[in-house]
Amino acid sequence: MPYIDDSDSKPVGSYPNSGIDVLIVGTGLAGLTASIECIRKGHNVRVLERYGDINTAGDMYFMGLSATKFFKHWPEMAKEFKEISMSNAWIETFKHNGSRMIPPLKVADRLRDAGLDPDTPPGRFQMRPLVYKMYVRQVERLGVQIQFGKRVVDYFEDKMSGKAGVVTDQGERFEADVVIAADGVGSKSQKLVGGQVRAMKSGRAMWRAAFPIHHLDKNPEVKEFFKMQKNPANGEEEPIIRTWLGPGTYAMTLTRSDTMIWIMNHDVTGSEKESWSNTIESDEVLANMDKGVGPLPWAPMFKELIKLTPSNTIVNFELFWRNPQPKWASPAARVVNIGDAAHSFLPASGNGATQAIEDAISLASCLQIGGKENIPEAVRAHVRIRFIRNACAQKLGFSNAELLQDTDWSKVKLDPRRAQPKLPSWVWGHDPEKYAYEVYDQVVESMRRGVPFDEDDSIPPNYPPGYKYEPWSIEQIMEDMRNGKPVELGSGNWD
Ligand SMILES: Cc1cc2nc3c(=O)[nH]c(=O)nc-3n(C[C@H](O)[C@H](O)[C@H](O)COP(=O)(O)OP(=O)(O)OC[C@H]3O[C@@H](n4cnc5c(N)ncnc54)[C@H](O)[C@@H]3O)c2cc1C
Ligand SMILES: *[C@@H]1O[C@H](CO)[C@@H](O)[C@H](O)[C@H]1NC(C)=O
Repeated sequence: MPYIDDSDSKPVGSYPNSGIDVLIVGTGLAGLTASIECIRKGHNVRVLERYGDINTAGDMYFMGLSATKFFKHWPEMAKEFKEISMSNAWIETFKHNGSRMIPPLKVADRLRDAGLDPDTPPGRFQMRPLVYKMYVRQVERLGVQIQFGKRVVDYFEDKMSGKAGVVTDQGERFEADVVIAADGVGSKSQKLVGGQVRAMKSGRAMWRAAFPIHHLDKNPEVKEFFKMQKNPANGEEEPIIRTWLGPGTYAMTLTRSDTMIWIMNHDVTGSEKESWSNTIESDEVLANMDKGVGPLPWAPMFKELIKLTPSNTIVNFELFWRNPQPKWASPAARVVNIGDAAHSFLPASGNGATQAIEDAISLASCLQIGGKENIPEAVRAHVRIRFIRNACAQKLGFSNAELLQDTDWSKVKLDPRRAQPKLPSWVWGHDPEKYAYEVYDQVVESMRRGVPFDEDDSIPPNYPPGYKYEPWSIEQIMEDMRNGKPVELGSGNWD
C-alpha cells in the first residue's frame, strides 16, 4: 500500500475515479468531511440535508490535531483554519466563586510546560460558526452536490443488486453503491443497522451562549473583567479562555474581539433538551446556577455576564449517555454510520468533532483502497479500524468530564495539570488516513480468517498501547463514581 508521508499532499485529482457512487446524509462535520474526502479519493458524491441550508450556529468545540492533519490536502482550508485558530490565545483559571487560581498564561506556554510542542498542539478550541463557514466555502469551491430540504425517513439496501438508498418524507428515493449515514444522534438508519442503544439521562446539562461582544457595553465592570488579554510583549489584545472550576460544576468563557462565549455545566432543571436549538432565558440560569455547587455561590461577576446575554441565545443542552456499540454498518454493509450517528460523546470529552472527522477520513480511504468490487469489505474494515479507538475515546471523555466536574483544588495546587483534561498522544498523534493505508490489508486478512475484532493483536493499535478491549457500560462507570472510585480506564498506557 502507498505510504502517505506527512509532507505528502494529495490534492483533488490525485486519485483516479473509483466509480463508486456515494450518498451522504447530513451536513454536520462528519457529512461535510466525508463529502470532500470522498471526492478527493475519486468517488462520486451526492449529499442530502433535511434543512434549507448548512447550519452555522453553535459556539465552540475542541478539534483534535488528529482531525486536522488532512488539511494538508486542502490548501485553502489549511490557510483559513490557521487564520481562525486562536494560536495567540491565553488561558486563566478560577475557582467558581471567583478566586483566581492560575494567572493568565499563553496556551502555548502551558503546552510547553506539559512537555508538548506549541506548534503542533494536541488540538484547538475553534468557533463552530467559523469552522462551518470554512467548510461551506470549500464545499462551494468544489461544487459538491448538496440537496437541501431532504429529510430522510428510511434507509434500505439490496444485497443482490449491491445498492443501498434512502427515502425522504416526500417519498423521494435516492440510490447509490454505498450510503453514509451522517445524520447525527438518533440516526434514521438505526432501524436497518440495528445499533440503537438506550440513551440514559445523565442528570446533567449545559448552558451555552455565544453572542456579539458589544452586549457587554451595558455594564463597564463586566466589560472590563471579561476583556481580552493584553500581550505585554507586543501590546496586542489577544483572545482569552477563562476556566471556572468548582465542586459539581465547571464553566468556560471565551473572549474574542467580536464574540463573547460562555458555557456552564449544571444539574438538570427540567427545561433541557438534547437539541442545539433549545433556548432559555437568563433569569432561569440565574435562578438555578447556585444549586448543587456546594456552600460557595457562583462569582457575582459571572452572574452579571449572564444577565447581559441577549434573549433567545442560551442553549440548555441535555447530556445523555450512550454505551458504545460496535454495529455501525447494515447487514450487507452498504449503509454505514459515521460521527454522532455511530457514537455520541459528551461535549466535555473534547472528542465529538474530532472522532466524527476521523471517521469520515477513514471511510473515504477504505473505500478507495477496497475499490468498487469490494465495498462491503471496505465498510467492514473501516468499522473494525475505528470501533475500539472510539470506545476508548468515549471512556476518556468520562474520565475528563469527571475531572472537570469535581475539581479538588488541594490537588490542583500541587499539580496544575489536574485542572485540564487529559489529551494523550494516542488520541492527538493519530493520522486516520495514514493508518487506514497502513493496516487495511491486515485487517481484511484477519476478517477473512474469522478473527474477532477484539482478539486481533496483529494490528498496531490506534488506541492506548497495550489496551485489551473489554465491553464496558456507563452503568458500571457510574457505580464506581458513586463509590468514589476514579474512572477505571482499563489495561494499557492511556497517557
Ligand atoms: C446546529 C448545531 C450546533 C452545534 N453546536 C455545537 C457546539 O456549539 N459545541 C459542540 O461541542 N457541538 C456542537 N454541535 C454538535 C457537533 O457538531 C457534533 O457533535 C459533532 O460535530 C459530530 O457531528 P456530526 O456530523 O456527526 O453530527 P451533527 O453535527 O449533528 O450533524 C448531523 C446533520 O445531519 C442532518 N440530519 C439529521 N437528521 C437528518 C435526516 N433525517 N435527514 C437529512 N439530514 C438529517 C442535520 O440537520 C445535521 O446537519 C452542534 C450541532 C449542530 C447540528
Ligand atoms: C472563594 O472561596 C474561598 C474559600 O474556598 C475564599 O477564601 C475566597 O475568598 C473566595 N473568593 C472570592 C472571590 O469570594
